[in-house]
Formats: sequence, structure tokens, C-alpha cells
Amino acid sequence: MAAITFIQLSLFLLLGFLGPYANAGRATCVAAERRALLSFKNGLKDPSNRLASWQTEDCCEWKYVHCNNISGHVEKLDLRNPLDYDTYEGAALGGKVNPSLMELKYLEYLDLSGNCFRGSQMPMFFGSLNQLRHLYLSDTCFGGQIPPQLGNLSNLNYLTITCLRTALELRSDDLRWISGLASLKHLNMDYVNLSQASSDDHWLLHVNKLSSLTELHLTNSLLQGSLTLSFTNLTHLSFLDLSGNLFEALVLNPFVKHDSLVTLNLNLNKFKGSIPDALANLTSLKQLDLSANGLGGPIPDIFVKMTSLHTLNLGSNINLVGGLPKSLGGLCQLKTLDLSENSMSGGISEFVDGLSKCANTSLEVLYLQNNNLTGRLPDSLGHLKSLTNIKLGGNKMHGHIPMSLGRLSRLEELEINGNSWEGAISEAHFATLKNLKRLSIFPSSSKSLVFNVSSNWIPPFAGLELIDLSNCRVGPLFPSWIQTQRSLHQITFDNAGIIDTLPDWFTSTYANLSFLVLSNNQIRGTVPLKYNGSSSQINVFDVGHNLFSGSIPSNINETMPMLTHLDVSRNKVNGAIPSSICGITSLGILILSSNQLSGSLPHCWEKLEALQILDLSNNSLSGTIPDSLGSLGSLLFLMLSRNSFYGELPSSLQNCSNLRSIDLGENNFSAELPKWIGKNLASLGILRLRSNSFRGGIPQEFCNLSSLRILDLAHNELSGAIPHCFGNLSSMIMVAPVNQFSVNTSSISEQIVYVDDVTLRVIKGRELEYDTNLRFLVSIDLSSNHLSGAIPMMLTNLLGLSILNLSANSLTGKIPEKIGSLRRLESLDLSRNQLSGEIPSSISDLTSLNHLNLSYNELVGRIPSGNQLQTLEDPSIYEGNSKLCGMPLSLECQDNETHDHAPNHVNEDIEEDEEGFELKWFYVSMAVGFVVGYFGFLGTLWIKKEWRNACSMYLEGIIDRVQLLWRN
Ligand SMILES: *[C@@H]1O[C@H](CO)[C@@H](O)[C@H](O)[C@H]1NC(C)=O
Ligand SMILES: *[C@@H]1O[C@H](CO)[C@@H](O)[C@H](O)[C@H]1NC(C)=O
Ligand SMILES: *[C@@H]1O[C@H](CO)[C@@H](O)[C@H](O)[C@H]1NC(C)=O
Ligand SMILES: *[C@@H]1O[C@H](CO)[C@@H](O)[C@H](O)[C@H]1NC(C)=O
Repeated sequence: MAAITFIQLSLFLLLGFLGPYANAGRATCVAAERRALLSFKNGLKDPSNRLASWQTEDCCEWKYVHCNNISGHVEKLDLRNPLDYDTYEGAALGGKVNPSLMELKYLEYLDLSGNCFRGSQMPMFFGSLNQLRHLYLSDTCFGGQIPPQLGNLSNLNYLTITCLRTALELRSDDLRWISGLASLKHLNMDYVNLSQASSDDHWLLHVNKLSSLTELHLTNSLLQGSLTLSFTNLTHLSFLDLSGNLFEALVLNPFVKHDSLVTLNLNLNKFKGSIPDALANLTSLKQLDLSANGLGGPIPDIFVKMTSLHTLNLGSNINLVGGLPKSLGGLCQLKTLDLSENSMSGGISEFVDGLSKCANTSLEVLYLQNNNLTGRLPDSLGHLKSLTNIKLGGNKMHGHIPMSLGRLSRLEELEINGNSWEGAISEAHFATLKNLKRLSIFPSSSKSLVFNVSSNWIPPFAGLELIDLSNCRVGPLFPSWIQTQRSLHQITFDNAGIIDTLPDWFTSTYANLSFLVLSNNQIRGTVPLKYNGSSSQINVFDVGHNLFSGSIPSNINETMPMLTHLDVSRNKVNGAIPSSICGITSLGILILSSNQLSGSLPHCWEKLEALQILDLSNNSLSGTIPDSLGSLGSLLFLMLSRNSFYGELPSSLQNCSNLRSIDLGENNFSAELPKWIGKNLASLGILRLRSNSFRGGIPQEFCNLSSLRILDLAHNELSGAIPHCFGNLSSMIMVAPVNQFSVNTSSISEQIVYVDDVTLRVIKGRELEYDTNLRFLVSIDLSSNHLSGAIPMMLTNLLGLSILNLSANSLTGKIPEKIGSLRRLESLDLSRNQLSGEIPSSISDLTSLNHLNLSYNELVGRIPSGNQLQTLEDPSIYEGNSKLCGMPLSLECQDNETHDHAPNHVNEDIEEDEEGFELKWFYVSMAVGFVVGYFGFLGTLWIKKEWRNACSMYLEGIIDRVQLLWRN
């Protein structure tokens, strides 16, 4: 018994003696700190039980806790959420951060990133943890002000408080506290709202006191003002204040003391003004990102001494101009250069030649797209062997594409669309390009670049994901080499000169394509909407303007269930529109115009909640408009013209309150014009009901259409008077260009800068497309009806009016005296009415007029003369008014002889002119429509990042195409 006890005792002593050394000689937890951690744990919500180990005696053994080996004090608490951004909730801690943490007096490292203390104030006591060297609080969902007490952390080296998830909810209105962080090396406060802090320029001053800073990240923090202006102000301040604050006297330039700064990220803010020269002194800088601000002016030539620079991003400032600075060509370390989305001009040869002289070039990413660059692609590009990504799209470069490109064996992305390339692209251009994934050439001028490879070419690459050879001469045969590419998910051969059938292998090889554009070729065969076997993933399908025949398959909802955009316009597709089309609920754009479709519309539209553009015009469709069309609450454009629809418009259409344009022209609609158009479709810019059998009066309610710019009710059976209140159509009074009428561009471009660079390009592109006349087009055409009464005087209020056609009615009374105030009027047709009295002399004030017709009325007296009227000297303008006299008629005034010479038909040239005008309206309407439409459309595509660029090229193309479509 005693022996056993002895052994037990010995064991006990031995264990007791060894105990402290059992954990590799580590000191154990300090009791007070253990209690503090437990209180901290108790305040937390821990749904995934991450802190399960926090119960044993020795808190130094707990998960996420690290103690000092010797003292046993807790030094590090690393509670960072291990899950990634999207799945973070699975492991997020929540609840309250208990001030008991203050007991951890030796804490040097605290990381709570990725946990979510929703909406609560960031605790002030963090500022008491004065041994902290690392404090990481990214995406912790704290709101309100960052406590200025943080400024007491004078030992802190790393501070990260980014708020991507709850962007801008956390703020700091005064950054004074920052200057207390005397040891800070890295500061990252991306997505923290600093808008107040930057309302004066002192934020810069405070940041500038951080003399050890090597990394500064303040991305998307609503910082504003001018980086340059702030110096001048501070310079002045220093002179005023010399005796006072010594520090301010030193601050002549921002960051000038920070020659150790390695990273400076101030992108996605609102800085204006120019890029400061003072940056030249940041000679240690490796990364400089000032992208997506509002900086302008030329890029200063400041890179001579910045030889460590490997990333320079000044993209998306829109307003940067001038050439690439000379000193850029000396940056042999440069890996990434992004100057895209600006207004830079000049060529790139000097830069590329410069870099090609480096012993080792490092340049991997060259993004210069969407600028105003000119010149050629230099041969020396082939020396930049590290290049993986080249984007030069959307510039004005020209010439041949150098064969030396074929040497860039690491190249994955070549996007040079939207320039004026010429010559040929051959197999040699791809000689070593085994890694190519994205190829987009798409020259701006059609067919001057030939894609000349042999029909049995096997490219060195096999992993192409995207190809866009639009506007290149690829055909006449369908390129068979793409068969070798098994990963293709986007194919765009718009206007590629293909005169062929679609090969059999195509649909089977590419069953999983997401984006297919074959428009504007002469491809024959059955429209490839039928995929064998399983359903396809395709989102965008555009084969418009080819020679496809066949019909829309009745199981299209099963073969292509993911479509967002379907365009088979201008083919020979026949048959009916199957009701299964309503099963494609993602559909945003449906364009089936100019085919041979027949039958009536299906009755199931309520399912297409996302539909924004419905264009079925120019087919042989008939029947009535189904009520369910009125369920399309997103609809912006309803185009059903040139069919044989009849009956009334269903009153449900008044629910489509977003409609921008309705075109039901050239059908057989009869009925009175619905009053609800004026009451409920307030956004309507274009209303075209031409050539139907609408009858009755024009409702007064139409006068409420405050966005209306184009009203075409010609060739109907309308009677009664022209409403006087037409004079109140406010968009016809105010002369705003088209792009301000249907979308508020100012707010869109705000959004673009921060959200969506694709849309920006669409908008930019569109502005370049337009000539001003079209942008200002405002028109009323009520011709060929039975309208009676006088021309309302109020019409002369519509100062924006460029076209007014009231011909072939029964209008009486005089031409309004003040007709001459319509100074923008280009076309005025009042012919074939019973207008009487004299022609007002003010008509000679219509200085923009180039088409006038007053024939076949009962006008009397002398024809006014002067100004533009001198150029309108065709007597047919006035004929059929037996009592008119003077030039250009041969009837002299005060001569009672009547004039017999009167042809019975309208001059055909003038008829054609009218047609020309009418088509141009559509040009405007559709282009505007597409911009509006794509804005929403892109919303859905936005998720798929890799599409964005390809999309934008494509969108620009489609705008062109649609314009063509309406012009023919
Ligand atoms: C800085 O100076 C400019 C003009 O020199 C002035 O417009 C601006 O308001 C000043 N900013 C501050 C914060 O004083
Ligand atoms: C760069 O620093 C030098 C010396 O510190 C100074 O004289 C010069 O003005 C600075 N350059 C700029 C552009 O601020
Ligand atoms: C682009 O350059 C041309 C001349 O090459 C110039 O006329 C035009 O204004 C420039 N456009 C922009 C946006 O800078
Ligand atoms: C496709 O549409 C047809 C006809 O409308 C319908 O019978 C069928 O159930 C739909 N298929 C799917 C998968 O929705």
C-alpha cells in the first residue's frame, strides 16, 4: 500500500515538476488576461463555434491566441475570418467587442477582419492598446466615426480599416488623429468615407506627418479636391503661418517627405486638377494608382527618377490629355501600365522603342484603350517579350499590324479593336502565341484588314476563349480553324464577309457558347436556334442581317433558356412567334424585325419581366395586341411598325410607364387615340402611329407628354382641331440635345465613373456618332388626316421644332403670324389645306428652312421674300393658291390674271425628302434606345466580368447596325 502511494506520489511530483515544460518550455497564460479573453468571448456571437477551444486553463493554448514564450502575456489575437469574401458569413463572429480586451496590455497584433459587428461603433478602447503594431479591421461592419483615439497608437506599423462590404458606412470626418500614428508604415482605409475630411485639404497635411509611411491606400474614399491645388493653398498657408506650426511650414508638397513611400493608391476618389509634379520625388514608389478620379491635363514627365515603378495606373480619369510622357519609356521595371479611358493623344512608338532598349523588359500589361492615340504599332513591340495583355482598342491608330507580334509568346490578350488597321493578318502574326486567350481586332474601317490564313491552319494556341474579328475580311468561307479551339465562349464575326453556310461542326462544337454574333454577313441555312441535345448556355445571340431561313423553334425555351439578347432581324425567318419564347424569362432584348414572320402574337408576355426592347417591325404579323404586353413593366421600346396588326391598343399598355418610344406605324389599327398615353406614359419621347386608321380627335392629354420630341400621327383618319395645348409640350420648347431627353446623362456618367466602364464607352461612342442636327431633332407630323380648324397660335411656342408637317388636312384660317419664331424649323409643310389670308412676312425669319410647301391652299397676296426664302425658289412651293403673287411665281402682283399651270401630283423629290427625315428619326430613336436599353442589359452582364470589354465593342457595333437597319 505504502509502495503504491510512494509511486503515485513520485509520479505526481514528477508530473508537477515537468508540467510547465510539457508545452515545449512555454510560459502559461496570465490569469487576468484569461478572464479578459473569456469576457470578450462572452460578448461575441460565434455561430460557427470558432472559439470552442477557449475554455481550457491555459489560454495560450487557445486557437487564435499567441502568447509571449517567456512572459506568457497575450501578444497576438488573430481572429481573421478564414472564409473568403463571398462565403464569410459561415465563420463570422458578431455581437459586441468587450472592453475587457484592454486587459491585454501587451497585445501587439489584433486582427478582427472579416467578422461583422453590424452597425456598432468601432470601440474607442482600441486606442488604449498602446503596444499594438498591427491592427487589422477590414470588413468588420463597424459604422459611424472611426474613433480618433486610434491616434494614440504611436507604435502602430500597420493599420487596415477597409470597408468593401459596407462601403462608406464607416467614416472619418476629421483625419487629425492620423498624425498621431508616428510609426505607421502601411495605411489602408479603402472604402472608408472621408468626404468630410477632404472638404478642406488638411487630410493631406495629416497624412503627410506619417514620415515612415511606405504604403498608402485610400481607394474609393470620396476624397476630393485637387492634388495640385492643395499644394498651392498649403504653400500660402506656410508663409502665413511660419511662426506657428512648424510642421505646416514644411509641407510644401504632398508626400514630399515620403521618399520611402512604395505604394500610393488613391484611385476611385474624386480628385480633380492635374497630376502633381511633386510625385517625381517619390523615387521609391513601386505602385502608383490614381485611376478613376477626375484628373486632367497632361501627364507630367516625372518618371525619370521613379525607376522602381512597376505599376502605374492613371486610367479612367477621362480628361488626361497629351502624349505619353517621354520618361515612361525608361521604366525598365514597369510591369503594368494602364492609361486607358482618357483623352491621350500622340503615338506609342517612342514609348515602346524606349522600353525595348531595356536589358530586360518587364512590361506585362499594357492598357491604353479608349484614348485618342494615333500613329502606328511599332515593330519594336515584338521586343517586349514579357507582354501578356495588350489593349489598344478605341483609339485612332492605323497602318499594318506588325508581324513582330508573333514573337510575344506569353501573350494572352490582344485587343486592338476600333482602330483603322489595314493590310493583312497572317499565320506569322501568331507564330509563337501559344497562350492566346482573347483576340479582338475589329478595325473601325470595314474590310480593309484581311484575316488571311490558310484553310487548314492549325494555330499554335488552342485555348482561345474570345474572338472578335468583326469588320475584318474573314470570309468568304466560314473560318474552319476555330474548330481547334475548345474553350471558346464568345464568338463575334460581325460584318466579316462570310458568304457560306454555317458548318455542321459549329453547333456541336460550341454548344456551350455564351455569346455569338454573326450579324451582317451572308450566311445561309436554317437559323441556328436549334441546338442538338442539351440546352445551351447562350446569353447573347445575334445573327441579324444574314440569309438565314427556317423558323423559331417551338422549344426555344429549352434550347436557349438563358438568352438575354436575341436578334435575328433582317433574315428570311418565317412562321409564327412561338409562345415558348415567353419561357426565356431572362430576355432583355428581342429583335425579330424585317423577317417573314406571320401569325399573331402569343399571349404570354407577362413572363418577360426584364424585356426592355421589343422590335417586331417589318414582318407579316397580324391580329390584335395582346393584353399581356402591358405587363412588360421594364419595356422602353415597343416597335411593331410595318405589320398588319389591327384593333385597339390594349389599355394595359398604360402600365408600361417606362416606355421611351412607341412605334406602331403602318399597321391597320383603328379606334380612337387612347387618352391614357398622355396620362401615364410620361417618359415617352417618340410616339409614331403613322399610317393606321386611328380616328376621332387628338386627345388634350397628349399635351402632358413632357418628354415628347417626335410625334407622328400622319396618314390616319383623325379629325377635330389640333389641341392648342400642344404649345405646352415642354421638350419641344426647350432645345436640349437628344441625349439629355431620355436619360439623365449627368447622373449616368457619375455612375459610370464609379461603376461601369462599359456604359461609359457606349455613351462616349454615341456622342461621337451624332451630328448635332440629329441630336436636336424635334418634329410634329399630323399630315394626311381630316384635321380642321385653325393652326393653333400656341404651336409657335415650340421653339425647338425642326419639322412641322400639317399637310393634307382641312385646316382653315391664317398661318400664325409668329411662325417666324420657329427659328430651328428645317421643314415646314402646310400644303393641301384651306389656309387663307396672306403668308406672314415673319416666314422669312426661318433661316434654317430648307424645305417649304404651302401649295394648294387659299393663300392670297404677295409672297414674302428675303433671307432663306430667296433660296426656296421652286414655284411648286406656292402653286395651287390662285391668289398668290410675286416671285417665284410668274404671276405678278396686282395682276388679276389667274395662273393655270398646276401639276396634279406632289413633287417626288420632296416626297423622298420626307422619307429621309422620317428614317433619320429612327436613327435617333434607336440609338438612344440602345443606350438606354444596354444600360439595363449590362446590369445583367456585369456579373460576368470577362465579358465587359467584348460587350462594349459589340454594343458599339450594334448601334451602327440598327442605324443601318432603319436607314434602308
Ligand atoms: C485653394 O485655393 C483655391 C484657389 O487658389 C481656392 O479656390 C480653394 O477654395 C482653396 N481651397 C481651400 C481649402 O482653401
Ligand atoms: C523634389 O525634392 C527636391 C529636394 O527635396 C526639391 O528641391 C524639389 O522641388 C522637389 N521636386 C518637386 C517637383 O517637388
Ligand atoms: C482627338 O484627336 C484629334 C486630332 O488628332 C482632335 O481633333 C480631337 O479633338 C481629339 N479628341 C479628343 C477627345 O481629345
Ligand atoms: C417550353 O414551352 C412549352 C410551350 O410553351 C412548354 O410546354 C414547356 O413546358 C416549356 N419548357 C420549359 C422547360 O419551361
